[in-house]
Amino acid sequence: MIPQPQVRHDQAPVTESDLLLQVRDLRTYFRLDEGMLKAVDGISFNVYRNRVLGMVGESGCGKSVTAQSILQIVPKPGVVQGEMLWHRDGQTVDIGGLDPESEEMRAIRGNEIAMIFQEPMTAFSPVHTVGNQLMEAYFVHGKLDEAEARARAVELLDLVGIPAADRRVDEYTFQLSGGMRQRAMIAMAMMNRPRMLIADEPTTALDVTIQAQILRLIRRLQAETGAAVLFISHNLGAVANLANDVAVMYRGKIVEFGTVRQVLKNPQHPYTVALLQSIPGFGYRRGDRLQSIRGSVGVPIDPPDECPFRGRCDRFDPALCGGSMPASVEVEPGHQVACVLYEARS
Ligand SMILES: Nc1ncnc2c1ncn2[C@@H]1O[C@H](COP(=O)(O)OP(=O)(O)O)[C@@H](O)[C@H]1O
Ligand SMILES: [Mg+2]
Repeated sequence: MIPQPQVRHDQAPVTESDLLLQVRDLRTYFRLDEGMLKAVDGISFNVYRNRVLGMVGESGCGKSVTAQSILQIVPKPGVVQGEMLWHRDGQTVDIGGLDPESEEMRAIRGNEIAMIFQEPMTAFSPVHTVGNQLMEAYFVHGKLDEAEARARAVELLDLVGIPAADRRVDEYTFQLSGGMRQRAMIAMAMMNRPRMLIADEPTTALDVTIQAQILRLIRRLQAETGAAVLFISHNLGAVANLANDVAVMYRGKIVEFGTVRQVLKNPQHPYTVALLQSIPGFGYRRGDRLQSIRGSVGVPIDPPDECPFRGRCDRFDPALCGGSMPASVEVEPGHQVACVLYEARS
């Protein structure tokens, strides 16, 4: 018997005052010799306080570039277009319009929006102690009391479950196990009480037991701080556990969006269905075999204006699927699907 993953119960309905980030028609393109690589191609979504948005999709679908775009850390020659309205205390800033190097963007990055990565070693320097790096994260944002910074570093290391935090604070990251390093990176991300946390495949490099612990930790911190979380993962079980809403990305587009229950219990887009059938526990009926999705995502260089999934789709119909990229259709309140099967019906 394959256990059904638990699906998180939706929290109280979202309100406009909980709206933290509005991403509108985000496009992140890389001009390469081969042509224009459209890593993210016109996506829109909202991020709310006290809510976790899961982002799923196979490798190469544009999840990490979405995260990099929000923080304005897309490597060259990437160009980010579109609106990213960041709301704070009655004020709205369009991150999309900020110079990545500007004072304002630096203040947002790390201070208001923090990020944790798959590989903690890339976030830490090997030549400074864990404590000094946590304190540095604090100083960068102009909070200058050393004793206070150190106390906060110890408090956070303790909060994320590092035993003997007052001693470990003076160790180097190579002295920590993989799981402890991941906890230390989460502590670093939380130093400045960010209002939004972006976690990009935070548990992929860890073994299963440690993965579960880190997921519980993220969930607890989110609940305690009321922060918004953008949780990027190809692990649908983890997303089911942690997220309230899910965006399914395919080749730079959001092809399905809704609450966890809507998307994972009642998937509509053929890509979501295929994704769920490819892993144990979801969309799996007794007697069915797990099916891997044939073909691969490919690289979206000068992609034609058409459904990006058509070449791999079980439901492909030449009479229906020949046109341009299908528009997103609301199939039930809050549940959107960009597939011609639904477009034709509406
Ligand atoms: N720095 C870069 N330069 C050029 N292409 C990139 C760069 N980063 C990502 N890409 C391309 O953008 C697409 C999306 O990548 P990515 O966001 O990393 O996918 P995911 O995180 O969903 O696995 C891929 O086709 C990838 O090859
Ligand atoms: Mg990625």
